[in-house]
Amino acid sequence: MSGTETPVEIDTGTAYELGPAEIDADLIEVERGTPTGEMLRRYWHPFAVSTDADDTPRAVRVLGEDLILFRDGRGRAGLVHPRCCHRGTTLYYGKVEGEGIRCCYHGWLFDTEGRTLDMPCEPEGGRRKERYRQPWYPVQEYHGMIFTYMGPPRDRPAFPRYDVLDNVPDGWEVVADGNNIGLEGDPTPCNWFQTHENVMDPFHVFVLHAGFSGNQFVAEMADIPDVSWHYTGQGVKSHQDRVLDDGRFFHRVTEVVIPNVRIVASPFVEFDGPATSIAWTLPISRTETKIFTILTRPIGQTRRRALYDGKRWNELTEAEHQRYPGDYEAQVGQGAVTVHSEENLAGSDKGVTMFRHLFRSQVKAVADGRSPVGVTTDAEQARFEVRAGNYIGRRDDVIDLG
Ligand code: FES
Ligand SMILES: [Fe+2]
Repeated sequence: MSGTETPVEIDTGTAYELGPAEIDADLIEVERGTPTGEMLRRYWHPFAVSTDADDTPRAVRVLGEDLILFRDGRGRAGLVHPRCCHRGTTLYYGKVEGEGIRCCYHGWLFDTEGRTLDMPCEPEGGRRKERYRQPWYPVQEYHGMIFTYMGPPRDRPAFPRYDVLDNVPDGWEVVADGNNIGLEGDPTPCNWFQTHENVMDPFHVFVLHAGFSGNQFVAEMADIPDVSWHYTGQGVKSHQDRVLDDGRFFHRVTEVVIPNVRIVASPFVEFDGPATSIAWTLPISRTETKIFTILTRPIGQTRRRALYDGKRWNELTEAEHQRYPGDYEAQVGQGAVTVHSEENLAGSDKGVTMFRHLFRSQVKAVADGRSPVGVTTDAEQARFEVRAGNYIGRRDDVIDLG
């Protein structure tokens, strides 16, 4: 062989060279006993609307746990472990009564906090009923949404309230929506975190929603904004600033609050001012997610939906989903759980990076025995003032509003 041959250039970057797929467990775990599952369990989570609780037991799944929701004859909502504490059949087949739920198998009756009220096969209906407690979780109803706290009882925080939901103008109503943004109640089949961190990714709005699939919102949202991100006391917010065609300044603020609250003003820019809804990205399980929203609106106004070539999302054919993708396609397209080792985060992902950093630090806080941010037993401190919104006007007048 002579030494004069031209060396063959070796291809690089082929998929053959991909390393093993690695997932950041701190971002995606939801189960009891995992570090992140324990952090999530220090907060109240919405999981149903009030009308979901009635005298027919309903199977629900929250943070990877299967549970039974019901409402007793006195109007109290109850959330219990499905396996009866007697011999384990499911309370899904139970009967709801005035005082609680009665198991179909041997008739033990439990109240909404799991206390055993009756054991009909035992002498005197059970002489030591107080020894048996059906595992349960506390619930709280707020503006038509049902929340639960699934963490250690001694750490149960005050229930957080939101100014924009508690101070509604005359002629407006507050509505709880468990519809998961147009999916007609079905869960989104992917991990919750990739859905949630999208809220700190304002650049995708310009590409995915205002160009790639046509402009799905309104003209005010069409131009690429100046973006900046900022830590708040309990989360991260992004500023998206634009000068509109008529010369007015459009200051849009979006925020996420630890662990899973998302506050996004209407992308249809119907209202000038603070956001008119609060939403929660609920981890149903590691690979199922559902967004619950409490919104305010002029009484009777219908909720606007993004359109895809003039159609609603659930009217699209498979080929149209490819041609006009939206958040569902982009986020479920990342996989049931996204693969963090195959990402290349860039400067425009700074909001995602900031949120991940803050989130991981809260997982560590709980693992170290500290309280995560926003958790308080003081009801006054649990009141949240919303900064997110659409603020339009003279630059100097609106820039400090969010
Ligand atoms: S298994 Fe429920 S009462 Fe026996
Ligand atoms: Fe989006």
